[in-house]
Amino acid sequence: MAVGVVVLVVGAALVLVPWSGERESDHAEGDLRQLADARGMDLGVAVAVDPLARDSTYQDVVSGNYTSMTAENTMKWSLVQPERGEFDFSGPDALVDFADEHGMSMRGHTLTWHNQLPEWLAEGEWEEEELREVLQEHTEALLGRYQGRMQAWDVINEPFQDDGPELRENLWLEAMGEDYIAHALWTANAVDPDAELYINEFNVEGGGAKSDALYELASDLLERDVPLHGIGFQSHFLHGQVPDDLVEQMERFTDLGLDVAVTELDVRIPEPVGQEQIEEQGQEYRQVVQACLEVERCPGVTVWGAAEHHSWVPEWFPGTAQALPFDENYVPKPARSGMVDALSRRRQGRRPSR
Ligand code: G3I
Repeated sequence: MAVGVVVLVVGAALVLVPWSGERESDHAEGDLRQLADARGMDLGVAVAVDPLARDSTYQDVVSGNYTSMTAENTMKWSLVQPERGEFDFSGPDALVDFADEHGMSMRGHTLTWHNQLPEWLAEGEWEEEELREVLQEHTEALLGRYQGRMQAWDVINEPFQDDGPELRENLWLEAMGEDYIAHALWTANAVDPDAELYINEFNVEGGGAKSDALYELASDLLERDVPLHGIGFQSHFLHGQVPDDLVEQMERFTDLGLDVAVTELDVRIPEPVGQEQIEEQGQEYRQVVQACLEVERCPGVTVWGAAEHHSWVPEWFPGTAQALPFDENYVPKPARSGMVDALSRRRQGRRPSR
């Protein structure tokens, strides 16, 4: 088998890609953006501010492969409002402008969460009324600034305990009680009535008690006419554990009248990582994109990072790696081919392209 280097043009940049001798079609290469557009689904990527500002290959991978972007960190509270009343929109502005310039849509992430809160907020003693005011101010500032430019917002992020069906005891719950969820959704809807509002959660993709609790919560909110439009299946998977019944699990929620998006897809592989696992991971990415295509109300799939060296996985799950479709040299992996493959198959029942 011939082995060498091939020069690929990714956007405007030249990328050297190790070449094993097979033809392009053997890897089902294709234009991901075009294919996603043609199938009427979003293919998104979580984006970080620094590489987007400095690294032209990163920019090309983002704008050349994906139709949508999520702010990986820069729209979180600690970065947007580091001190009370002092807002920093430099990061969010850069992302939203990049998305506009490249004809990409944006998902906002995130409004109420227990993590990445500024000290003044996390360590404050909050009475219900004052915390409502704080949330109102933050929502008006952040969602208001980008009103009409965001397709969706993760208004509620990870409301349940990691493994359990109980609501997480975050500061929102402590000060406002369970109704913080409806309240945050109403507040977001008043500020940006055009955005799709989501509850975004993990460990719900394969069913179980936590998924049931989320289902109950979503049903209750809809019965009360609370403006909830979608559920995010985060989908941080371990290689070999992508649920077989993903379609059924998504449809359980879409049957309620909600959208279900895959919002944070990655598939981490235990080290040492061999070529066999990398190939199998390609099939897992194919499976997830295929599942979204099969579900009438799945608007899209977002991958949680542009390339291996920007992934949260090695820091948070030591001993696992290679979770994304591009490696640390921005070389596309079989995971990318798997997504191309899913998008290239002719299926019935999918809504026409927008
Ligand atoms: O901001 C500091 C910077 O000042 C410092 O120099 C640097 C040194 O390590 O750390 C920076 O903070 C990092 C932060 O991301 C911003 O880059 C933290 O160390 C790092 O732990 C933090 O991780 C983020 C994590 O959320 C925090 O909870 C990941 O990048 C981000 O991918 C991850 O995203 C979450 C979603 O929001 C919700 N779902 C789960 C997902 C994965 O945890």
